[in-house]
Amino acid sequence: MKLTILGGGGFRVPLVYGALLQDHAEGRVTHVVLHDLDAGRLSAVTRVLAEQAAGVADAPEVTATTDLDEALRGADFVFSAIRVGGLEGRADDERVALAEGVLGQETVGAGGIAYGLRTVPVAVDIAQRVARLAPDAWVINFTNPAGLVTEAMSRHLGDRVIGICDSPVGLGRRIARVLGVENPGEAWIDYVGLNHLGWVRGLRVAGRDELPRLLADPDLLGSFEEGKLFGADWLRSLGAIPNEYLHYYYFNREAVRAYQQAEKTRGAFLHEQQARFYAEMKNPHAPALTVWDRTRAEREATYMAENRETAGAGERDEDDLSGGYEKVALALMRAIARDERTTLILNVRNRRTLSVLDTEAVIEVPCLVDANGAHPVTVDPLPDHATGLVCAVKAVEREVLAAAGSGSRATAVKAFALHPLVDSVNVARRLVEGYTDVHPGLAYLR
Ligand code: G6P
Ligand code: MN
Repeated sequence: MKLTILGGGGFRVPLVYGALLQDHAEGRVTHVVLHDLDAGRLSAVTRVLAEQAAGVADAPEVTATTDLDEALRGADFVFSAIRVGGLEGRADDERVALAEGVLGQETVGAGGIAYGLRTVPVAVDIAQRVARLAPDAWVINFTNPAGLVTEAMSRHLGDRVIGICDSPVGLGRRIARVLGVENPGEAWIDYVGLNHLGWVRGLRVAGRDELPRLLADPDLLGSFEEGKLFGADWLRSLGAIPNEYLHYYYFNREAVRAYQQAEKTRGAFLHEQQARFYAEMKNPHAPALTVWDRTRAEREATYMAENRETAGAGERDEDDLSGGYEKVALALMRAIARDERTTLILNVRNRRTLSVLDTEAVIEVPCLVDANGAHPVTVDPLPDHATGLVCAVKAVEREVLAAAGSGSRATAVKAFALHPLVDSVNVARRLVEGYTDVHPGLAYLR
């Protein structure tokens, strides 16, 4: 089985390969093709993978190419993990927004819109090539803003593209742990929304909802990341546990202030840190895996401190970090490839799941997965406050898709202006000015 990784020179690729190396079963991935625009990054990552594979008899063969069509031909699965504009672009997204006093996070608010505007045209091109060159392949989208990018690709690939995120499963796991659930994998997480905009409304163990027990207990609520982030009172008012990214909505003022006061934004920090990794790897004698592992450990140690500088943010434990994207992606790939039925929270087309959205809207929801793909399960409707946010943000995503399709600057302004976290049409206009000034990838907006 052939797996193609787009963005194959990316820093997190060794996490995926490490997970593949643990799979010895029939039907596993035997060939990994790394694609990247940057040959230097490809060679750095290829060296890390070669060291990871040392001594593993059935390690998947790894090849690398800068030719996209060659990478896609014959692929059974495609992981799309590109970052248009690189981490430098992410840091620019943050900076331009903060200068306007709004949030520049890569998936939420102005930053997410800017990142979406430059990513969608590239993702659409990839989707069209997959449809032509590897029509039977399944595409698993890792690229943020994941819901929006998955929806853009689904217009060309239908249900053959599935978006992933590790935050809902991580949240479910943390809730299960504080509740003392013995086997968190067996808990049913009642979660729905958009990517980075969803709520856990229940957690059923053997048919019994354990969430009310958590909401009633201030000590338990104070003992895990989201409990500290949102505070017991607010969680009780909501009657649900929001995805951590909803902090940017519910505590927007504090989040913006924390970012403005931070010495460095998350994007700027990661940009510098990873640039050091790729620079060190220019030395052909550098111990690739050791250098990579050291950089990864540094990144993880700063995860919370740098990403959410706001009060109460704690450190994330090793288990959460290692239960990340690669595990979700591999579980999904296995379920499809081997027809091993499983349930995963994924980004897929709505069908009739949330009646307030149309059938084509990509949402994040528990899905039954098998060889036929991912099928959203029936869920209870969202409460009105959540429906309001979901509909507002989906409307913004639709304007981003329209702007990317038409190249209309006015439509791009509309996308920013309609976002609940952008507080004036004039701010939206200046954001479009600021972003088109710094991003060559937005030159298409006229
Ligand atoms: C979480 C989010 C991802 C994000 C990741 C890493 O897992 O769900 O969407 O990519 O964090 O964030 P970082 O700030 O380290 O790039
Ligand atoms: Mn995510």
